[in-house]
Amino acid sequence: MERILILDFGSQYTMLIARRIREMNVYCDIVPFNKIPAITPEIKGVILSGSPASVRGENAPQPDLGGVPATLPLLGICYGAQWLAWSKGGDVSASGTREYGRAILSIKDAGDPLLKDIPAESQVWMSHGDTINSLPEGYKVIASTSTVENAAFRVVGKQIWGIQFHAEVHHSEFGKQMLRNFVLGICGCEGSWTPANFIESTVASLKEQLGRDKVVLGLSGGVDSSVAALLLHRAIGPRLHCIFVDSGLLRKDEFTSVLASYKGMGLNVKGVEASARFLGDLAGVVEPEAKRKVIGRDFVEVFNAEAEKIEDVRWLAQGTIYPDVIESSAVPGASATIKSHHNVGGLPKDMKLKIVEPLRLLFKDEVRRVGKALGLDPDILGRHPFPGPGLGIRVLGEVTPEKVAILQEADAIFIGSLKRWNLYDEIWQAGTILLPVKSVGVMGDERTYEYTIALRAVTSVDGMTADWVRLPYDFLAEVSDRIIREVKGVNRVVYDICSKPPATIEWE
Ligand code: XMP
Repeated sequence: MERILILDFGSQYTMLIARRIREMNVYCDIVPFNKIPAITPEIKGVILSGSPASVRGENAPQPDLGGVPATLPLLGICYGAQWLAWSKGGDVSASGTREYGRAILSIKDAGDPLLKDIPAESQVWMSHGDTINSLPEGYKVIASTSTVENAAFRVVGKQIWGIQFHAEVHHSEFGKQMLRNFVLGICGCEGSWTPANFIESTVASLKEQLGRDKVVLGLSGGVDSSVAALLLHRAIGPRLHCIFVDSGLLRKDEFTSVLASYKGMGLNVKGVEASARFLGDLAGVVEPEAKRKVIGRDFVEVFNAEAEKIEDVRWLAQGTIYPDVIESSAVPGASATIKSHHNVGGLPKDMKLKIVEPLRLLFKDEVRRVGKALGLDPDILGRHPFPGPGLGIRVLGEVTPEKVAILQEADAIFIGSLKRWNLYDEIWQAGTILLPVKSVGVMGDERTYEYTIALRAVTSVDGMTADWVRLPYDFLAEVSDRIIREVKGVNRVVYDICSKPPATIEWE
């Protein structure tokens, strides 16, 4: 499989470079700058990322490109470009003014293949403290801005380019075109990394890897575990044993409807009703992290007990995706890229299961594209993210069966209305929160003293930052009205208007 190698020097934008390349249907890998793999013929080009470091710093990341053939195309971005210049004797120093934000790029060599189809002047995004004051001999400026003479350069007679701006960010108007020029033009990639090809090759390799072995997988109702299940099902059919646990903390009717949908897709799935156990163990537990621990432990124990019933099972499948497996770069101040958010934690005791992770190579949007190509139920495909501990962290404070039931009803009205008003798909995540306070109201002639429901709806790209959704007033009025009228135990509804940061998406 053709691929581009991205050497990570710790920039916050490294992942974005990878996303842009994947959008061209070209596979790419991100590796730390000091762990360059053997260069095989499938690697068609190398990109050197940006970095929070300075090439002049004592601990500046220094890649060893000795194993990279001289003919392989290289593109340095920001720090990568500065390093390419500095390591050959160019002068890199602190720019008087830190160059940050929009700038206008003027082309000096319209014939350069990196600049094909880019207008003579276009906006780019700068973000660097150092600047390249002079280029080494044999380097040629191909584009400049009013303050940065050496904004883009090429090494004459070689397949090496450098750009000091960030072509990968949205604010660089023709940045995508520039990356296309490099990846599809200069490196000659064909763009064959499509969902159909991914499915075909993954199914073939799963067949080979797993043979006649049995695999167990925990389904959550979310996109990742569902797509992992469909891929494995294509490869090994009923030898994939899926387990779907009802913790009692799912949304209203979710257990039955999602289970029916899994069965309809032909999966060999067992639903395990364990809500009494989870709710029993949560009695008296108030603190959010303590609740998470109880739910996580119960989940592992219920899952393990079921998995142990499957004779001769050899493998545990997980829905791990690419952002979870990228190794973070060893650059001080680098953005942390490792995140391990597996809802299925812990291996079944004494079973010595091997791990299989069919989505390891995919970004979230690619998981969705693959899911669609596999015929995943659109309802599951477009589902908002939902936390592993479920409604357990949306009933604030102690969780009781009564409070969960109230929250499920209110949530069903909110989510159902978002779908009816065609708002659901524009939103990253929405849900309701049951506050542990009662307030006074009046209904008919009677004074009420009941719970408050908070509504939360946010837009986000990755859950790391988020903004509250400007829902229409008429919509909010309808939802509030229905919740108070239809959900017994609630007499007040409020809307959360905080962004993240400083607030988080969940309230606990
Ligand atoms: P916060 O609340 O930190 O949430 O802004 C960011 C994203 O993570 C989800 N989330 C969780 N997911 N287990 C999970 O699997 C958890 O304990 C957990 N806590 C928060 C949250 O729903 C949002 O998508």
